[in-house]
Amino acid sequence: MTKRPLVLAVDVGTTKVSALVGEAQTDGELTVLGVAASPVVGMRRGLVFEVERVAMAIRDAVNRANSMAGTDLTQAVVAVNGDHLAIEAGQAGVHLKSGTVSPEDVERATRKAAQVTLPAGRETVQVIRRGLAVDGFRGVVDPVGMVAHQMDAEVFVVTGLTTVIRNLRRVVSMAGLNAALLIPAPQASADAVLADDEKQVGVVHLDVGGGTTGVTVYRGGHLQYLGVVPIGGESITSDLSVGLGVVTTQAERLKLEYAAVGVEREGTLEVRAVSGQSVKVIPVKELQEIVAARVDEWVGLVESHLSRIEWAKGPAAGVVMTGGGALLKGLRSFLESRWGWPVRLGAPIGLGGLSDLSRSPGYAVVVGVARDSRMYGLRSETESVWKRMVQMWLALWN
Ligand SMILES: Nc1ncnc2c1ncn2[C@@H]1O[C@H](COP(=O)(O)OP(=O)(O)OP(=O)(O)O)[C@@H](O)[C@H]1O
Ligand SMILES: [Mg+2]
Repeated sequence: MTKRPLVLAVDVGTTKVSALVGEAQTDGELTVLGVAASPVVGMRRGLVFEVERVAMAIRDAVNRANSMAGTDLTQAVVAVNGDHLAIEAGQAGVHLKSGTVSPEDVERATRKAAQVTLPAGRETVQVIRRGLAVDGFRGVVDPVGMVAHQMDAEVFVVTGLTTVIRNLRRVVSMAGLNAALLIPAPQASADAVLADDEKQVGVVHLDVGGGTTGVTVYRGGHLQYLGVVPIGGESITSDLSVGLGVVTTQAERLKLEYAAVGVEREGTLEVRAVSGQSVKVIPVKELQEIVAARVDEWVGLVESHLSRIEWAKGPAAGVVMTGGGALLKGLRSFLESRWGWPVRLGAPIGLGGLSDLSRSPGYAVVVGVARDSRMYGLRSETESVWKRMVQMWLALWN
């Protein structure tokens, strides 16, 4: 009997923890066997602030996903998020002694390219392939077996703050799991929803969550940029709560019902004040202005990330948004007219099994984490990091 390649993916988001048990196929398809989400308190802007409460939410979501799937998985692939994530470009070449490229040469070149010098307190989260060159010819997809003297590898090393990563591992282990592999959340989300041809021609992906917005840019089939803005839908909710003097739950309800970008609305609404039972009447316009101010700040920060990319004509495949915050009314058309690029909502693709729930934009990260686990190879305790890199490269080519 062959063992099924089951994977447990966990995304500890700012507003919810999602867990997914799936079977990641070699062709990139993902069969979903169990999926669940639990609301979480104790996270801020993608980072863990209250370990006990976060661990409880993880335990709950994972238990439900495991029981749906009839599994008891404890080795988890976990998304890492937060504006501490950064990318470093690495490049290195190796001389090919045998005259042909072997998988070990690829591994050697990759390992060398990934040896970027990190400042104190930072560590590598993931190494992402950008390209390979054989005797100076760039863009070689599968160089194994090619005759050559020299092979060069280009990588992006996604790095994060060690303290933040330690705390994430800690809550995962308090929930009875082992974080066997970490995947940057913005990358996972993009991998869940973007088609290969979009990554080829050029695309911007935004995962607009509760406390963060992941920004990734792809061109030529590879990642060109990854960054995180520490603002999401929750920021609008808390602004409304403070600005209108209402409790968070009411602010959230008002946001879902009335908040819209780029829309002028007349009329008033009645809200219950935080203190006491008094009812206040406020113009809808006041609510819209609070929303607009935060969206303005948000879009400015997103643009400061996008300005680090050199565009000839903008992303040919436009902008794809995921995450619950992307559902804010009017946001899509607001961005379209501001940037002049097509903007669409993305949903996870290539799913089978219990795919209905996991197809919604808020599940893109957990789906992508499950799918990426196959590509990056799960690390077991006895395996070295270099063996894992070989597996990663072999998986990319097979
Ligand atoms: N219809 C909607 N309109 C506006 N906002 C919405 C809508 N639905 C959900 N949201 C917002 O989406 C946010 C949650 O999104 P999501 O589940 O992607 O976040 P998360 O993964 O928990 O957070 P993060 O990725 O930032 O850590 C909340 O702020 C919520 O208010
Ligand atoms: Mg999220």
